Amino acid sequence: MENLKGQWVIFFAGIFIVWLVSGCASELIENESLDIDNSLVYCTAKLSNTCKNFEDQHELPRVIHQNEQHWSGSSINSWTSGFYPGLLWLMYNYTGEEQWKQNATYYTELLEPIKRLPWKTHDFGFMMYYSYGLGYDLTQNKKYRAILLETADSLARLYNPEVGAMESWPWMKRKRGWPHTTIIDNMMNLELLFWAAENGGNPNYVNMAIHHARKTQEDFIRPDHSTFHIVVYDSVSPNIIRKETDQGVSAETTWARGHSWATYGFIKAYKYCNEQDFLMTAMDLANYYIQNCPEDLIPYWDFDAPLIPNEPRDASAAAIMASAMLEISSLSNDDEVKQKYYLTALQILSTLSSEEYLSTENDAFLTHSISSKPANSGVNVSLIYTDYYYLEALLKAKQMAAEATFANVH
Ligand code: GLY
Repeated sequence: MENLKGQWVIFFAGIFIVWLVSGCASELIENESLDIDNSLVYCTAKLSNTCKNFEDQHELPRVIHQNEQHWSGSSINSWTSGFYPGLLWLMYNYTGEEQWKQNATYYTELLEPIKRLPWKTHDFGFMMYYSYGLGYDLTQNKKYRAILLETADSLARLYNPEVGAMESWPWMKRKRGWPHTTIIDNMMNLELLFWAAENGGNPNYVNMAIHHARKTQEDFIRPDHSTFHIVVYDSVSPNIIRKETDQGVSAETTWARGHSWATYGFIKAYKYCNEQDFLMTAMDLANYYIQNCPEDLIPYWDFDAPLIPNEPRDASAAAIMASAMLEISSLSNDDEVKQKYYLTALQILSTLSSEEYLSTENDAFLTHSISSKPANSGVNVSLIYTDYYYLEALLKAKQMAAEATFANVH
């Protein structure tokens, strides 16, 4: 009898432990105030409104100014032109519904002339990866692959082996007399080079991308893991002429969106080439963000803006960072690291999904983004790339939760 009692005790203790472990695990993949499925319903309705209300067939949505309801467009040459087709491809992938694919196809194919843009820019990556790249992933359309490879060839022409980095803004030679201008945002556009090398393009593009990332590690990241926006090289050697900013307060401060680009760029580079130090750099940059943000994890537009806390926040930097942190979480093999960045990303998404940041009065998902504070252009507005990274992050978080990546963490 005693023996039987003992067996029951062990049985119930076993059940209790299983309950406890699965309870802990599920706690990790929830956030009290974030309902991902609800947020996705909201995004689907908002994007449907945009499809109805944005009638321009030659431009692409870019910004909704304060007190306006619908998107203002910009030409295919804008660095933001890939994000609207990108959003439509994400929605097609999520819903499987043909109407999203038709819209995505239309706005993607508007961008074909970009492949040979006569004025060169590192933005080739932003414009073409989110349009043709996502489109190719979902359709395997061979024409899209050919267009992407041609664009990668155009992008690769900006690589300067004497500097060991890409020239992001060639027009600065004429405008300011800067021989070779590289900006932190360029880290995001290495993806097109990595992708091309894996998909039948020049295999040497991997080395170019790795060299560029290493130069960025050396010259753009300060010892406290804050970041510079612009580094000007002499163009005939890796010698630096000056450090500058265009989007931040000054050369010595840290522009929030640039910092998010850097974080996301390093984790993307790690994904393609598996260089461990790129993962470490992405984590260092993400940690700087966490340590220097207000409690709700939405940064001021520059981490060193002089009038903090009376400075505007930038939701775009937060949405990009949320998606970058989810990527860090999914690529790391360390359970604690996975947990930390996953939960922090959910916290960011939770704030972005609160009344404060949801854009209830217009066609966008979110508000309180900043295009350029120094230029006083697009301050406190809705931006197409904020919406893109918000949706990307929600979908990533949903998939990670479904895969229950964290079953062992408690
Ligand atoms: N050039 C990209 C940005 O403004 O973030």
